[in-house]
Amino acid sequence: MSEFDDLYEPDLVSAQALPTDGGAEAGVRPAKLDELIGQNRVREQLELLLSGAKARQTAPDHILLSGPPGLGKTTLAMIVAAELGVALRQTSGPAIERSGDLAAVLTSLGPSEVLFIDEIHRMARPAEELLYTAMEDYRVDVMVGKGPGATAIPLDLEPFTLVGATTRSGLLTGPLRDRFGFVGQLDFYDRVDLEAIVGRTATILQVDITDEGAAEIAGRSRGTPRIANRLLRRVRDFAQVRADGVITRPIAREALALYDVDEIGLDRLDRAVLTALVDLFSGGPVGLNTLAVAVGEQPDTVEEVCEPFLVRAGMLARTPRGRVATVHGWRHLGRTPPVSGAGVAPAPLFDEADHSPP
Ligand SMILES: Nc1ncnc2c1ncn2[C@@H]1O[C@H](COP(=O)(O)OP(=O)(O)OP(=O)(O)O)[C@@H](O)[C@H]1O
Ligand SMILES: [Mg+2]
Repeated sequence: MSEFDDLYEPDLVSAQALPTDGGAEAGVRPAKLDELIGQNRVREQLELLLSGAKARQTAPDHILLSGPPGLGKTTLAMIVAAELGVALRQTSGPAIERSGDLAAVLTSLGPSEVLFIDEIHRMARPAEELLYTAMEDYRVDVMVGKGPGATAIPLDLEPFTLVGATTRSGLLTGPLRDRFGFVGQLDFYDRVDLEAIVGRTATILQVDITDEGAAEIAGRSRGTPRIANRLLRRVRDFAQVRADGVITRPIAREALALYDVDEIGLDRLDRAVLTALVDLFSGGPVGLNTLAVAVGEQPDTVEEVCEPFLVRAGMLARTPRGRVATVHGWRHLGRTPPVSGAGVAPAPLFDEADHSPP
């Protein structure tokens, strides 16, 4: 357990832990497409896909959702099932260790049910191969026996819709990716959408909040609804315990400062990563593993939780030689960047997320 666990725990847990989801997300998750705020393109595309399938009374094409943690992949999977009025079965890549595990899940699906596989990029290879025929032909070949005498018994499946979620779409194999009829790439939310999300959650939680208070929280949420909701809950505590319960801008600012969330939403771990990069490695380039050790975190956490936003904010670059702080990154920490050469990358940058070196 590290000191960051409280802040990060829901992001990296696998689907086995989903039913609780920290308990706090349950009532707050949008349940239908029209309750969903933002992600207009993906929402419109999904709306068409689902309406078309409903009109034809068939199971919709398989859906892949990708994007950084907390942007709504699980939420969308649940919405797909809810919109179709069918049950959602959920599991996760790491939970499927053998192809038999997956065969058992697939053969137990009812007609047109939705199977949600979270972290699908972490599924074992034999299971993935089983999934190919399941996705294409609604069939699995179950192997009976071993060695030369082994035979494959084909089992027909009910038509189903697979919804896969991944934070690392670049790690998905080509054959698997090609079998999805629709790929929805979720992007960070803009400020206006986040304000609306904070407002919506505040209403559900019956929290008194001013527009400025909501704007302050939205602006520090790193483009991520899960963080917006989490910060709202922390600020609510502060408002109730140290003030009259109403979240105003000054209350939000004071509370977020207490929780080490800075003006643009970087928290302790984000700043630790950036500071290590600048102070210990003179701005880089430095490998992900070294950087993770320097901040005492798992490389996965640094890569999937901190880096997408740091890259997006133009503070860190992933280059073929390692991580590099940008001019913007140096300045955000109040340091003067070196004039040129090593240790700085010019902003703006593009995200090389899934092609980056280890
Ligand atoms: N578009 C949205 N509108 C309102 N709230 C949202 C939206 N998207 C996500 N949320 C909120 O953010 C929370 C996190 O979303 P969700 O669990 O779907 O993220 P995720 O992409 O599955 O993350 P992970 O990769 O960590 O599993 C949800 O509980 C939900 O309340
Ligand atoms: Mg999820």
